[in-house]
Amino acid sequence: MSADNTPAVDTRFYGRRKGKRLKPMQEALFETLFPRLVLPRAAKDPYGKAELAEGVVLDPMALFPRPVRAVWLEIGYGGGEHMAAQAAANPDVGFIGAEPFLNGIGKLLRKVDAQGLDNIRLYGDDVRPFLDHLPDACLEKVFLLFPDPWPKARHAGRRFVSPHNLDVVARLLVDGGEFRVASDDMTYVRWTLRHAPVHPAFQWTAQGPSDWRTRWPDAIESRYEAKALRQGRQPKYLQFLRRPRDTEG
Ligand SMILES: C[S@@+](CC[C@H](N)C(=O)[O-])C[C@H]1O[C@@H](n2cnc3c(N)ncnc32)[C@H](O)[C@@H]1O
Repeated sequence: MSADNTPAVDTRFYGRRKGKRLKPMQEALFETLFPRLVLPRAAKDPYGKAELAEGVVLDPMALFPRPVRAVWLEIGYGGGEHMAAQAAANPDVGFIGAEPFLNGIGKLLRKVDAQGLDNIRLYGDDVRPFLDHLPDACLEKVFLLFPDPWPKARHAGRRFVSPHNLDVVARLLVDGGEFRVASDDMTYVRWTLRHAPVHPAFQWTAQGPSDWRTRWPDAIESRYEAKALRQGRQPKYLQFLRRPRDTEG
């Protein structure tokens, strides 16, 4: 626990890696397509499967088979509904998607295959150690949509939004870059609003309630978002802009 009662960041991963058995088509895509899309494992891979040496910095623009204008990152893409739609709508952008849940990866592979998307690369595990391998100011947008909420106070250190991870996202975003967080869990929304707007690198863009009640016009509904809406929970959409480095407070 730090001086301001923020629990220490918990670097272990508590989410699910496997669910029900994969469908045969998904299994096949894990053999054929996944190896072409998957990024090497970080030096701090907790399973001892590291493929990158400590200190290696990747060039994100060079990860794609053709030139891209910018790179966007989606953390915890779930079944990939949002990322696949963004990738199709923005063919000039390269997408890095991080997701440890095999069944989610399987769903995304189906979409990549069916739509012939060539601007997606995948990190198949907890994104946090991988972020150490990305250079400063390399991402134009970072999406964190419906992150696992960990609503109990004693689990707050497991939430992705934390002072440490905000420093990391601030390091990775270009000046003026965008960090989008959506959640239907009010504990997580309050938690994010407690930490992000006071971070010297971030500016919360909302002017009024319609800004946090309305999904971004260029985004599509994700699986968890649809579930929240079905169950009567109104998601909140938070947009933070990365301040230019020379104006940081
Ligand atoms: C509640 S689901 C939301 C999925 C999707 N974004 C949506 O809106 O439908 C949260 C997802 O984040 C993934 N996740 C949790 N911690 C993660 C981490 N450290 N790195 C990458 N993905 C993570 C989980 O595996 C899970 O699929």
